[in-house]
Amino acid sequence: MQIIRDIAMLRRAVSALKQGGKSVALVPTMGALHDGHLSLVRMGRRVADHVVVSIFVNPTQFGPAEDYAAYPRDEARDAALLAQEGVALLWAPDVAVMYPGGHSTHVEVAELGADYCGAARPGHFDGVATVVAKLFNQVRADVAIFGEKDWQQLAIIRRMARDLDFAIDILGAPIARNTDGLALSSRNAYLSKDQRAAATAFPAALKAAAQAIAGGAEVGEALAKAESDIVAGGFDSIDYVALADADSLERLSALRKPARLLAAARIGKTRLIDNLAVE
Ligand code: PAJ
Repeated sequence: MQIIRDIAMLRRAVSALKQGGKSVALVPTMGALHDGHLSLVRMGRRVADHVVVSIFVNPTQFGPAEDYAAYPRDEARDAALLAQEGVALLWAPDVAVMYPGGHSTHVEVAELGADYCGAARPGHFDGVATVVAKLFNQVRADVAIFGEKDWQQLAIIRRMARDLDFAIDILGAPIARNTDGLALSSRNAYLSKDQRAAATAFPAALKAAAQAIAGGAEVGEALAKAESDIVAGGFDSIDYVALADADSLERLSALRKPARLLAAARIGKTRLIDNLAVE
């Protein structure tokens, strides 16, 4: 596996991978890789001839009071995992390569970025959309793979690719979970033993709410019960628990399919997100 940090070298390496009409899949990440990330890599290997993974902890998607400095970083470990998965190329640029002095252009997907995580984290999705647009232009892959774990992010990237005519297919990969239901996340590493045990209340409450809503329960009541179950389970606060149109992300007060339950909650200093289809 090649590890590349320079844009000109990246361009040459990707052109070489594409020789003979071979296809390339891109899996963008911020590192601290777990099985959720690796499931995206495996999907990439199924749908394309070569997989390129990027690792870049993107400063512009972190708020001033967020965990940019503390975000877990272990490139050597990540690179070893990716090499084992048959990844062709690791794109690991420095901040100065991604954002040279004077960088002043950004991408905002206005309609989908305002609510949910966008409301709780102002500017977050502009940072995500901008860096993903740059990664698309840097790597020029045929397909890019994102996890459904970040449902709003996936919807925003799909819309950006459509609105700006990026010549890339966007694929969503299912959420990888621990056996107790908690979605895998790099931020789970922040949880103490007690918090980790309590965290299972979060997916459990969402599952119960999704089942209740699918079974005809009143949406507002089901969402309120999920919120109180999450707090009773040991969480300190709820950012949002909402029923949304799965594509437009419009908030729904009655079930209309396809619908998705979207949620974010805080336990100690850690903010966890999750989502679930309501079938
Ligand atoms: P990061 O949080 O590292 O996630 C990288 C990719 O892995 C995202 O597409 C995310 O949805 C996916 N992922 C994370 N946990 C997952 C799980 N449990 N199951 C399935 N997929 C999972 O998301 C980002 O980085 C950044 O915002 C990025 C898109 C790289 C832009 O900086």
